[in-house]
Amino acid sequence: MSYNLLKGKRGIIFGALDEHSIAWKTAERVHEEGGKFVLTNAPIALRMGQINELAEKTNAEIIPADATKMEDLENLVEKATEILGGKLDFVLHSIGMSVNVRKGKHYTEQNYDWTHKGWDVSAVSFHKTMNVLYNKDAMNEWGSIVALTYMAAQRVFPDYNDMADNKAYLESIARSFGYFFGRDKKVRVNTISQSPTPTTAGKGVKGFGGFISYADKMSPLGNATAIDCANYTITLFSDLTKRVTLQNLYNDGGFSNVGVSDGVIEAFEEE
Ligand SMILES: NC(=O)c1ccc[n+]([C@@H]2O[C@H](COP(=O)([O-])OP(=O)(O)OC[C@H]3O[C@@H](n4cnc5c(N)ncnc54)[C@H](O)[C@@H]3O)[C@@H](O)[C@H]2O)c1
Repeated sequence: MSYNLLKGKRGIIFGALDEHSIAWKTAERVHEEGGKFVLTNAPIALRMGQINELAEKTNAEIIPADATKMEDLENLVEKATEILGGKLDFVLHSIGMSVNVRKGKHYTEQNYDWTHKGWDVSAVSFHKTMNVLYNKDAMNEWGSIVALTYMAAQRVFPDYNDMADNKAYLESIARSFGYFFGRDKKVRVNTISQSPTPTTAGKGVKGFGGFISYADKMSPLGNATAIDCANYTITLFSDLTKRVTLQNLYNDGGFSNVGVSDGVIEAFEEE
């Protein structure tokens, strides 16, 4: 269902890799709600080609950008405002990657070059993106910037590895940069803390199958899907949430406030 919530709004969506990506679902929903946008991803991800299908479907142009490179981000923001015909109203940062996770390095014995790379991609890229948007004065007043995160920033999920630390850093950047963006430009900055979701990044976490079923059993409303996340993001891009800022917002079916659920007790009950 469409409510025209984003009619006339312009933005940039980072991180649509394939149809499972949270950013992919978000792009589809933004399009349905009347928003116009540019799609972007790292050049290597674009070579996989699937994003062209999304671009066609949503009448979007694609601009490659490695989100760790300032010159790429500067080019992206300049071109996006040109193509879309004005300043931006929304930006989705949907980027995450840990080399330690990918290569199966345990948290207690990280390769710090990989740690640094993952931190730059998953967390500092959000600072760099906002730096460019802020200094180029590329956002309209009452615009909205959202990044995606996970509850491992607050609690221990052992196999989430260094991504837990990256997410804690990302959430802190949202608050710190969000302060200046709010004060100086009337732009809001929030993070959405999403349930485990079966995407390329999600499934890369060891034991993901058990992990996602456990979260589902623990959540009174069940896990939030990628589409649920897209819908929540739409509300944060809309004018209905103008003074929500500096928040880490849980989209997790209630998981974050549950100690234990009946379903989990049953699974562990001894005869
Ligand atoms: N899937 C989950 O369980 C889950 C849960 C909570 C939060 N998140 C977060 O949601 C966001 C989106 O992930 P997803 O689950 O849709 O997986 P995904 O693998 O579909 O998306 C991750 C994206 O990051 C992009 N990326 C990696 N390095 C980049 C770089 N240098 N520059 C630009 N883009 C780069 C990838 O190309 C990919 O499109 C991530 O921040 C992730 O941590 C995911």
